[in-house]
Amino acid sequence: MSKRYTITAALPYTNGPIHIGHLAGVYVPSDIYARYLRLTGNDVAFICGSDEHGVPITIKAKKEGVTPQDIVDKYHAIIKKSFEDFGITFDNYSRTSAKIHHDTAQEFFKTLYNKNEFIEEVTEQLYDAEANQFLADRFIVGTCPKCGYEESYGDQCENCGTSHNATDLINPKSAITGNVPTLKETKHWFLPLNKHEDFLREWILKGHKKDWKPNVYGQVKSWVDDGLRPRAVTRDLGWGIPVPVEGGEGKVLYVWFDAPIGYISATKEWAAREGKNWEDYWKDEKTKLVHFIGKDNIVFHCIIFPSMLKAEGSYILPDNVPANEFLNLEGKKLSTSKNWAVWLPDYLIDFPNQQDVLRYALTANAPESKDNDFTWKDFQARNNNELVAIFGNFINRVVVLTNKYYDGVVPSPSNYTAIDEETLATVKAYPAVISSSIERYRFREASQELMNLARLGNKYLADEEPWKTIKTDEGRTKTVMFVALQIASALAVLSEPFLPFTSVKLKGILDSNDNVWEDISTKEILLSASHQIGKGELLFSKIEDAEIQKQLDKLEASKKANEAANKVVEPQKEEIVFDDFTKLDIRVGTILEAEKMPKTKKLLVLKVDTGIDTRTIVSGIAESFKPEEVVGKRVTVLVNLAPRKLRGVESQGMILMTEDEGGNLVFVNPDIDGVSNGLKIS
Ligand code: MF3
Ligand code: ZN
Repeated sequence: MSKRYTITAALPYTNGPIHIGHLAGVYVPSDIYARYLRLTGNDVAFICGSDEHGVPITIKAKKEGVTPQDIVDKYHAIIKKSFEDFGITFDNYSRTSAKIHHDTAQEFFKTLYNKNEFIEEVTEQLYDAEANQFLADRFIVGTCPKCGYEESYGDQCENCGTSHNATDLINPKSAITGNVPTLKETKHWFLPLNKHEDFLREWILKGHKKDWKPNVYGQVKSWVDDGLRPRAVTRDLGWGIPVPVEGGEGKVLYVWFDAPIGYISATKEWAAREGKNWEDYWKDEKTKLVHFIGKDNIVFHCIIFPSMLKAEGSYILPDNVPANEFLNLEGKKLSTSKNWAVWLPDYLIDFPNQQDVLRYALTANAPESKDNDFTWKDFQARNNNELVAIFGNFINRVVVLTNKYYDGVVPSPSNYTAIDEETLATVKAYPAVISSSIERYRFREASQELMNLARLGNKYLADEEPWKTIKTDEGRTKTVMFVALQIASALAVLSEPFLPFTSVKLKGILDSNDNVWEDISTKEILLSASHQIGKGELLFSKIEDAEIQKQLDKLEASKKANEAANKVVEPQKEEIVFDDFTKLDIRVGTILEAEKMPKTKKLLVLKVDTGIDTRTIVSGIAESFKPEEVVGKRVTVLVNLAPRKLRGVESQGMILMTEDEGGNLVFVNPDIDGVSNGLKIS
């Protein structure tokens, strides 16, 4: 039965491009869902847009010496284009700087204001006198009052996900200057979440939300059980949507107040363009509202936004919020600021026309119930062992044999064997199997079922061996090829949500575009005898080790560059006078012998020619150098350091060392021709 769905995907912040973490967590699953629902005849509004307000964008702008508007214009364009190129089928991709959004958000705020749904209060807020600015959200870091994580932000702890007020932080520090903030009075509007506690309890905890993902339900329950408190929904900031009521001058809406309203404004914009009524998608109880988000967004979509919608009074509430966990990359947390990511625009350049490979790898390994790791090796294996070896191989065999035996004309079957009957019946069961997984938001499982259908095809061909029967039994060969072509047709349709580019290609190859999802289980024949199919074309191609190595090298390089960029240069030490310096006796020397200090990891015992004498120096360099590597090295030695015993060996001086960009120890090396040992450095 056809239903109306409003599907939202978290609005990405416009402070960087999209990376695989965003894709796996939000955009690939939501696109699978939207495509599936359209294919099965539903009325779908799939909504997204750029989240262009908030502190991270102002911080980024400041860093780059441009305006926040410059930043959001740049990334909005990049993000929008890469989503299109990747085949994410938003019905509308809008942006929160659009006038329609400013109007919608302000109107929403005014409605709550007029309904007395806010508490208006002058309170003391954290203030950075040096930066001349109030500190909230990401302008402030401190210890999370809930879990003790020391780098919690003012509005949310990234460690435990709790959302709090900036003044709740323990030991807060300004992210702008590092100063300890002072308190200063300012007026703000608060949404009294405590007032909505009963409703939330009823709606989520006692309602039908038990079928929500356990991670989502569990988080919501624990927050509600902990007790909710009023949350400020306005900020003293220059970037955002102006507070539209008296006394709001110079203040803006909190980004997490305006952004989810972006789903509504984007729907309005789309409806106006398409001649639809946006209210059908937001105010009709029969419409199913589903929010796709990452786990760090749960509190905003399950507590704050529903409370806002409830307080407003005329909106529906989400039917489900299938939040995903996080995707790591090669064992480490993805990070935009540390450039530890696979960026979508880069992927699209490095792997042209291979959108489906990434979609598949991210789906098959989606972080649905726990954090997961993306590795390039796994990506390669998913492509080579599944897409190429199973799906691609099956289609290729069917198409090549049909062309070879029958000039591409679908042959007429004769009597079916029990195997044929069973195979065709199994194919018919697939839409329901895949639907059931998708409708329970189990996209991993669904993608594996699709692959199982291709496996079924392969097995059928391998067992029935049409390449053998062609010599002995033409009728049997025709039947087998006919059945195999039916499986190929089913794959062309059922792959659409997961592998949309492949589905289009495959429908092209089969020259068949009339089947819809339910036809796979209801139609007797998907591809009729005497239908002419096209020539073969490879659906997938093998990804070689060299390509994977290139990606790994790229990551390694970005890690190095980031380490170098983040290297903190220590501040200069206290001033000394010339006499202090002349007290240091630094000489050029040569290491003559070296051996490991027994039972230690770090220490080498060196014999060093200092020009004055040959002496023993114990040096903490054994983790960076093997003894044989340092023998013969010219070094710089502080010779008049008072001797001290290390593990029973007296060390009579110190070798000067520094670190290279990768953090490895290197000698301060006076290796200049003609400099002899014992010469003074001054
Ligand atoms: N920009 C937020 C993030 O990337 C998500 C905003 S979702 C919305 O975490 F609901 F506010 F739109
Ligand atoms: Zn915490």
